[in-house]
Amino acid sequence: MMPRSQSASKIGLLSERSRTEIDRWIAKYPPERKQSAVMAALRIAQEQNGGWLPVDLIEAVAEYLEMPAIAVHEVATFYTMYDLKPVGRHKVCVCTNIACQLNGSDRIMNHLQKRLGVKPGETSVGGKFTLKEVECLGACGGAPMMMLDRTYHENLTPEKVDEILNKLE
Ligand code: FES
Repeated sequence: MMPRSQSASKIGLLSERSRTEIDRWIAKYPPERKQSAVMAALRIAQEQNGGWLPVDLIEAVAEYLEMPAIAVHEVATFYTMYDLKPVGRHKVCVCTNIACQLNGSDRIMNHLQKRLGVKPGETSVGGKFTLKEVECLGACGGAPMMMLDRTYHENLTPEKVDEILNKLE
């Protein structure tokens, strides 16, 4: 009888640099709790891959943290900060949670949809922007707010959004 083939290791999909960064997060926890680094590890892997997480990379993170792949998959699908399909060169994440909603996130979202010609979850023609609706990003005092790539922009108005995006074009 042929031996059962072992599935190939995917750890090599994580770059040297990603692994070093993930190790820094792992070091913050006791050795038996290295799984606590899962959110940071997914973020690092996502950045390595141009802003999104293919299944193989999620599995590489699981293997690296010695976690079941399904558990890491659940984290990646639960949180809006992770993307499971290719994204544009810039991610525009608009918080629509309660504080932002009460302070006009609808107006900001509508403005962005018109300006970029996309709906939430879509990428503009040419692949420049991906627009996302996200949960509270912890900047409620500056509502309404958005995160553009990794930078927070607060107390937004449609005019302010235009100013910010114009700088990118
Ligand atoms: S509700 Fe928008 S940042 Fe908290």
